[in-house]
Amino acid sequence: MPAGRHILLIIGGGIAAFKTLDLIRRLREGGAQVTPVLTRAGEEFVTPLSVAALAAAKVYRDLFDLTDEAEMGHIELSRAADLIVVAPATADLMAKMAGGLAGDLASTLLLATDKRVLIAPSMNVRMWEHPATQRNLDTLQRDGNLTVGPNEGDMACGEYGPGRMAEVPQIIAAIDAALADGPLKGKHILVTSGPTHEPIDPVRYIANRSSGAQGTAIAAALAALGADVTFVTGPADVPPPQGVRVVRVQTAQDMMAAVETAKPAEAAVFAAAVADWRVANAGAQKIKKDGKGLPKLDFAENPDILATVSQKTDGRPKLVVGFAAETDDVIAHATAKRARKGCDWIVANDVSPGTGIMGGAENAVTLITAEGSETWDRMSKSAVAAQLAARIAKALA
Ligand code: CTP
Repeated sequence: MPAGRHILLIIGGGIAAFKTLDLIRRLREGGAQVTPVLTRAGEEFVTPLSVAALAAAKVYRDLFDLTDEAEMGHIELSRAADLIVVAPATADLMAKMAGGLAGDLASTLLLATDKRVLIAPSMNVRMWEHPATQRNLDTLQRDGNLTVGPNEGDMACGEYGPGRMAEVPQIIAAIDAALADGPLKGKHILVTSGPTHEPIDPVRYIANRSSGAQGTAIAAALAALGADVTFVTGPADVPPPQGVRVVRVQTAQDMMAAVETAKPAEAAVFAAAVADWRVANAGAQKIKKDGKGLPKLDFAENPDILATVSQKTDGRPKLVVGFAAETDDVIAHATAKRARKGCDWIVANDVSPGTGIMGGAENAVTLITAEGSETWDRMSKSAVAAQLAARIAKALA
């Protein structure tokens, strides 16, 4: 619970605004101070009076108010806040944020702030799935906004799918993660995760069996220790963790570019299963069975992201951690890989069929550093993540 912290809460105009009343109540019970901002559309769903009563604070509204201006310039409202939360974040509000519009109080505040912003999207499933909203989401995440939800389920409009605002406990967990006062507070850490997809043509691609579970758990564990995490993920099976900045990519080349953009970082953990090769002659159109025989794919080598970041002297993170997925002679191969790539640590694991590790819930790893190797007991991927995050915190202290 964010006791003693100050949340500037922007309430958009969606049916989920009623849940925000409960969010205010629980935040205050947890000792947080809440300054509410109610958009004009938000007033259609909850009244300023109920918001003010629950927050025990003045509600800032869109209506131009000379007294407010004299008390505190509207755009200064976020100055005292530790975090801005937008809940519900409607498709309209997200579009305004992504486009940098400042036509009302909420969007002006969001454009003028240098504070971290957590958005809880809420809208009809088709609005959520519309390419415009997905494009805006991507822009918002790239701009460093944190997101929580939406969840999948029955919607007020009678449809089923993703678009329901996250539940109040989820939003509080995301607020806690964003405000975490741990040993990694203020430290920017980069995590790559998931597989990459390398296109063969517009409908086919080459992938691998990585689920993204281990990388996701590591990002969550680092955020829980207070780190400011940029999570660069390929198309994974598991959803990204809460309270981190998510950058979604498809290919190894996209991942390389996203990692370069996200730097500088104090540490980087490369947990992604990056494809070593891409199809050099990928078709711009779907490859057809044209009776002229089998298609021939030419391969080109992908950039080695871990090696590139480890070996660049300019802007190298203080600590670079790689993974080594091996099927035999794990420690020898991983030790050689550490030297070859130039990273500081390698987390080695045996991914032979039969271990159940690739795509499973558990992991058995050996940590290889300049000092030697240490084998950890087999445990859940989240326990491996917590132990690794604690080690990283110690190394960066
Ligand atoms: N890695 C990367 N970019 C690549 C390939 C791998 O950043 N193009 C990173 C992975 O994220 C991981 C580490 O390098 O941290 C080792 O990945 P792994 O697949 O085990 O090694 P490879 O380099 O593919 O070596 P090999 O195929 O010889 O086992």
